[in-house]
Amino acid sequence: MRLIIGMSGASGAVLGYEALKALREIPKMETHLIVTEGAAQTLRYETNLEMKDLTALADVVHENGNLAAAIASGSFPTDGMIVIPCSMKTLAGIVSGYAENLLLRAADVCLKEGRRLVLVPRETPLSPLHLRNIKEAADLGCRIVPPMMTFYNGADTVEKMTQCIIGKVLAQFGLPYAPYAPWPGRE
Ligand SMILES: Cc1cc2nc3c(=O)[nH]c(=O)nc-3n(C[C@H](O)[C@H](O)[C@H](O)COP(=O)(O)O)c2cc1C
Repeated sequence: MRLIIGMSGASGAVLGYEALKALREIPKMETHLIVTEGAAQTLRYETNLEMKDLTALADVVHENGNLAAAIASGSFPTDGMIVIPCSMKTLAGIVSGYAENLLLRAADVCLKEGRRLVLVPRETPLSPLHLRNIKEAADLGCRIVPPMMTFYNGADTVEKMTQCIIGKVLAQFGLPYAPYAPWPGRE
């Protein structure tokens, strides 16, 4: 399986890191990583991680300015893309088809080729413009998995809340993620 991971400059750089870590554990998974300048900034401000901590987890790392990368073409087969976290700016670029960088172009390619595109949009509060763009993305076929807090399964730390989100994201591709426990059901 081959997945593209796009990280943009919404809060939650750690989500991209944890997604990469989880995908690394999946046999025969090939990941292609794009990190925007905004994401590089949030990584610095929000975490103790360095860029090399991210890039070490990906099989292929692409420059966001390289519109000649393989993933910029529909002729390069992939199983889809996850934009995690997805900023409102990147969301706007995706829904408008404004493919001015590699992350946006790779998302555009997923849409035109009918490949799964999962967005993890993060902003709060959400303006009508943000909501309109999220609805537009959903109408275009994107899976919208906002990084919302989960309480029903006993998650009581940021780490556990993060795991819930990663579990939900990977589930969009039918991928397993052991740290995420589904609701067991109650009688
Ligand atoms: C610390 C920090 C947190 C931010 N959080 C958000 C956010 O949660 N959502 C968002 O849409 N933009 C957020 N931004 C603004 C984006 O980084 C900014 O709009 C950037 O231009 C996005 O570009 P990109 O989509 O190419 O990464 C944040 C910026 C900083 C510095």
